[in-house]
Amino acid sequence: MSQPERWSVSWNGSDGQLEAREPTRPEVEAAAARLSGWYNEEHNRSMMSNDEEMDPDDVGDHFDSVWKEGGRNFLLYAEGRLMGDADLRHVDPATHTGEFAILIGERNVQGRGYGTRFALMLHALAFTALGLERIYVSIIPANRGSLRLFEKLGYERDDSPAARSYIDEDDDVTMSFGRGDFLRLHGDTARQLVIARRPPEDSALP
Ligand SMILES: CC(C)(COP(=O)(O)OP(=O)(O)OC[C@H]1O[C@@H](n2cnc3c(N)ncnc32)[C@H](O)[C@@H]1OP(=O)(O)O)[C@@H](O)C(=O)NCCC(=O)NCCS
Repeated sequence: MSQPERWSVSWNGSDGQLEAREPTRPEVEAAAARLSGWYNEEHNRSMMSNDEEMDPDDVGDHFDSVWKEGGRNFLLYAEGRLMGDADLRHVDPATHTGEFAILIGERNVQGRGYGTRFALMLHALAFTALGLERIYVSIIPANRGSLRLFEKLGYERDDSPAARSYIDEDDDVTMSFGRGDFLRLHGDTARQLVIARRPPEDSALP
């Protein structure tokens, strides 16, 4: 079976050039040491409920496993500098749904609006080119930044069985966002984005 194409989404906005890209394996390998450091940083780790330390090889395995199960991984760059990563997991082609997660890695860069902008870019990609109809998030109650980010984007609390299927702990907060609401709230901004298939040489495996 052929692998899906890899996509990128760019935004030339007030923060300069932002790009979210579905990475090739060499791009993951180049980013793995920094991502590992960010995943293992104490605050990030507690916000993401990561139980175990991840070394760079584990990061590569994580990207591989998301891709192989039909999910989509992204590396996030501002002016060409790696800022973090994001993914859509548990993508269900029957229901056109998936679960979203994002990390802005450096603690001193968090809270400057990058998470909101990258999340908006990736939802534009997911709701258009990738054909998703609804996206879910599951967040620990202590993660005020994440709760605020998704609320600002337009997510609403969702305690349906589908949403609760994503929780790790009973008190996790589940929210979801539908395609129609996204386009109504962000359609004008989404039109400023460049959403493109990556060139075939960039999409070829590995
Ligand atoms: C959560 C995260 C993605 C948010 O991205 P960010 O770039 O830091 O957030 P933004 O600057 O876009 O801010 C989004 C909103 O949250 C608020 N916010 C950010 N950090 C906050 C914090 N620690 N406490 C309270 N509010 C916070 C911002 O003020 C902003 O709201 P406002 O526009 O009303 O002022 C990022 O901080 C991060 O990666 N954290 C560690 C990993 C993580 O928690 N990932 C999410 C798992 S789902």
